[in-house]
Amino acid sequence: MESSPKQLPNPDDTSRPGVYVKTFGCQMNEYDSEKMLALLAKSYRPVQAPEDAELVIVNTCSVREKGEHKLFSLLGSLAELKRTRPELVIGVGGCVAQQEGQQILKRNRAVDFVVGTHNLSLIPSLVNGAREGIAPQVAIDYREEWEELPDEFDAVPLLDPHEANDRTRFGLHLTPVRALVAIQRGCDKMCSYCVVPNTRGKQVSRALEEIVKEVRLKVRLGAKEVLLLGQTVNSYGIDLQPRVRFETLIRKLAEIDGLHRIRFTAPHPAEVRPAFIELYGDVPQLCPHIHLPLQSGSDRILKLMNRNYRRERYLEIVRSLRERLPSLAVTADIIVGFPTETEEDFQDTLAVMQQVRYNSTYSFKYSERPHTAAREQFSSADQVPPEVAHDRLLRLQALQDSLSEETNAGWRGQVVEVLVEGPNKTISSWMRGRIPQNTLVELVQLDEALPNPVAGELVHARIVHSSPYGLRGELCRSEENASPLDAANGVEGRASV
Ligand code: SAH
Ligand code: SF4
Ligand code: F3S
Repeated sequence: MESSPKQLPNPDDTSRPGVYVKTFGCQMNEYDSEKMLALLAKSYRPVQAPEDAELVIVNTCSVREKGEHKLFSLLGSLAELKRTRPELVIGVGGCVAQQEGQQILKRNRAVDFVVGTHNLSLIPSLVNGAREGIAPQVAIDYREEWEELPDEFDAVPLLDPHEANDRTRFGLHLTPVRALVAIQRGCDKMCSYCVVPNTRGKQVSRALEEIVKEVRLKVRLGAKEVLLLGQTVNSYGIDLQPRVRFETLIRKLAEIDGLHRIRFTAPHPAEVRPAFIELYGDVPQLCPHIHLPLQSGSDRILKLMNRNYRRERYLEIVRSLRERLPSLAVTADIIVGFPTETEEDFQDTLAVMQQVRYNSTYSFKYSERPHTAAREQFSSADQVPPEVAHDRLLRLQALQDSLSEETNAGWRGQVVEVLVEGPNKTISSWMRGRIPQNTLVELVQLDEALPNPVAGELVHARIVHSSPYGLRGELCRSEENASPLDAANGVEGRASV
């Protein structure tokens, strides 16, 4: 393979046909979608709408039933499009593809191929097959091995962040400021509600050197932050020979020049050990933020969910982390309406939220999924009525909004470090970024003499406005205005964990 970046395809080159990838679901799917585009980069350029594409791939999620509905309604409109343009190739990937395989072809005849979560490398040949008129293909075998990155990737030169457009000239298309990098796939936990062990297989950790290589490459392409992905990241490496610790991986990544921030999602509370807690405050690049899924604050429900921890253990983890790093932001996933959940169980969840004072939470109504223990175990009489679940979700979200509002208000007047990610979504002349705690900041530039920051730059801003959903900050003239990051948040003292 040629190592000179000049040989890599230019994504602006309109002579190549367009590929549109629609991603549903989690960041693992986003990562896989990036990989699909990279694998196709030699022959296809990414486009922003299915109407401009000759190839459309839908990367699906089946964690809740709603995801499947979204897939089949999108496939309906793609089938319409194909009626007017028969040469359009349609592929379905991701977790629904893995789970349903052949069934997808039966439900929608416009689909040309179905590709499972372990078969991304087959995509170029599946696409070629479809173009040559081969009958609809299905590739959903499980594979043990990870694909290795070629050594040439390390030869890519460092890029000047001010020449952000240059980043688009590589086969990997735009490397965002925050690079997603998978460190494991699959999951060995058996949470009773969850479909993921079925759709992604058992846990397979990726070799440490491969992860380091990919992070180094993405830093060379302009990333400043890495978000490591896995279903239980803190059990990374227990399946490798010889065994590698998650903590070793984090400390190795911290040695990479130019990598300013390290994040990961998601650690499992039952797998948290002292060495994991010691990372916080010890590895400067590790952001003061943990996404620690709670799922429920009721010990009875946690047991039925097969989560293997109790509420008190969860709170103890948060307490130990905050002792080391008082400015730590905590976020979580929570499910309401799990079968048999009573108002009292739900109140336990709200109580944990009050104690932790989460910065934000992702909350979901329980959705019964195929091949899960909860589906087998509970009868229809055990199900929480949909209107009750809905009401609990609204109450949970109202509590979260008030917690977020208070925490975010604590930043007002503070000077914070912002890693600029890109343009503001509403006012395009403004930029936006995140503080180390992961809260979004819309940057306002009041002093016109200050240069406009570009994606990838670390700047300082004084927070002038806050809402439950984020912050607004005025760019500061120089770093001298900055206060130490860790001392910046005045609110965490109120957390009562
Ligand atoms: N591995 C991660 C979660 C992956 S799935 C962990 O252990 O936390 C992402 C989130 O979807 C879960 O945290 C859970 O809150 C939610 N989820 C998973 N299955 C669900 C179901 N059947 N119904 C509703 N929410 C679900
Ligand atoms: Fe699903 Fe549980 Fe594994 Fe997370 S840890 S992916 S919730 S089985
Ligand atoms: Fe969805 Fe699969 Fe991710 S089910 S949440 S896309 S692992």
